Amino acid sequence: HSAGPCTIVIFGAAGDLTKRLLLPALYNLKRSNLLPQEFAIVGVAHTPISQDDFRSKLNRDIHEFATVAVDDQLWQQFEQRLYYLSGEFQDAKMYQQLHNLLTQVDQDCGTQGNYLFYLATSSNFFCDIIAQLGAAGLVQEDNGHWRRVIIEKPFGHDLESARSLNQNISHVLKESQIYRIDHYLGKETVQNILVFRFGNGLFEPIWNREHIDHVQITVAETVGVEGRGNFYEGTGAVRDMMQNHLFQLLTMITMEPPVSFDADAVRDEKSKLLKSVQPFTAEMVQTQTVQGQYGEGTVNGKTVPAYRSEPRVAPDSTTETYAALKLTIDNWRWAGVPFYLRTGKCLSARVTEVVVQFKQVPSLLFRDTSIDHLTPNFLVLRIQPDEGISFQLGAKIPGPTMQIGAVKMDFCYADYFGTTPSTGYETLLYDCMIGDATLFQRSDNVELGWRIVSPILDVWAATSPQNFPNYTAGTWGPTQADALLERDGRQWRVGT
Ligand code: BG6
Repeated sequence: HSAGPCTIVIFGAAGDLTKRLLLPALYNLKRSNLLPQEFAIVGVAHTPISQDDFRSKLNRDIHEFATVAVDDQLWQQFEQRLYYLSGEFQDAKMYQQLHNLLTQVDQDCGTQGNYLFYLATSSNFFCDIIAQLGAAGLVQEDNGHWRRVIIEKPFGHDLESARSLNQNISHVLKESQIYRIDHYLGKETVQNILVFRFGNGLFEPIWNREHIDHVQITVAETVGVEGRGNFYEGTGAVRDMMQNHLFQLLTMITMEPPVSFDADAVRDEKSKLLKSVQPFTAEMVQTQTVQGQYGEGTVNGKTVPAYRSEPRVAPDSTTETYAALKLTIDNWRWAGVPFYLRTGKCLSARVTEVVVQFKQVPSLLFRDTSIDHLTPNFLVLRIQPDEGISFQLGAKIPGPTMQIGAVKMDFCYADYFGTTPSTGYETLLYDCMIGDATLFQRSDNVELGWRIVSPILDVWAATSPQNFPNYTAGTWGPTQADALLERDGRQWRVGT
């Protein structure tokens, strides 16, 4: 079903996110007939260009970044619905112009006063833009129309700033109008975690401390900071990835079954889970977390400079480009089960996956054979690339002696469903247009994520690492991260 009539207003329309992801996603929605006939996009940015120039720019962008070949006829229809307004985000006059333009667009395109404002700008502007939208009367919902705001990450810099951002915007918007994005939730494989757990009778009964030995979550990237030194210097891996993307994966894997897929039912369970993560004490930060920063190395056959030599990075920077931690969840389902999370840039391969290791059988039966150890059962949820799910079993190796080998049952998305290249933003944009906030973060979800990482960030800030850079680009990160698991008699499944 296509969404109802609306206009999407993109703040930061001349930026990277718009051309690489939002535009291709909207184009894909158009191709799939999920955009309404009564639809328009209004781009807002500083760049002083005309509407025609804006359309030509997006024409070039879509040909460069579309996930499928562009159908020129379809693009022309799309292009006719593109509008542009240049101005400063802090300038009240600009919002009056926007008001007038939106009224005009409503008349031209039949969009009925329904507006989705997408804040694809630097986070410094979030508060100002929302306040100005409020002052200009653009976010009041009445006369049967809706007004919604999508806020990109980073949502705050720490617990305090996230709280104050939530508080500020709550003066202007109702919670039901706020869509805090975490693009990991737009990934099919991430959404499928819920179907895997709650749509199959097989796994839920063993999804607990009785049967699961430990869980590993890896989000490894091969890219470095890609010219974003300025942003990344004040951010680091915990703020950029751990607090949001990895915690999303964690909650999907561990939360209790929600009573429905209703937005608040799901978000309630996520909050309950995050509340039960055992808080890090300063001592735990020393023993259960690892930070890293890459030095020069070779990634995918290319020489990569050290992080400290990247443009707009301090030569003595203490920003972490890698983070690993061990946490535990103090509830009945998970008490005592360790969760190991790691993420880093310039690692050896691009892999996002969740590994669930099950407990061993008592190996009494095989005591007298030549088998010295049985391999445990592993379930691997491959989020990207090579999306799929595999399960490792022990099987008898054919032959007269009793020998056991590890075999894999493997489900690949591509085999069953083909691959429909997409950006991951399609679902999120569509959901916002139809008013479904299930895949977006509520204020308490975000704050609880910050609450968990706060003590880590505090201790790290107070004790500047002396050993940076402590891993070579193109490897699997600092050796301390291996030691984190080895101390518990375990090892990372990928890269060791
Ligand atoms: C973004 C981070 O949120 O996620 C980037 O800011 C990171 O630093 C990116 O590279 C990773 O996303 P994906 O979808 O490529 O795993």
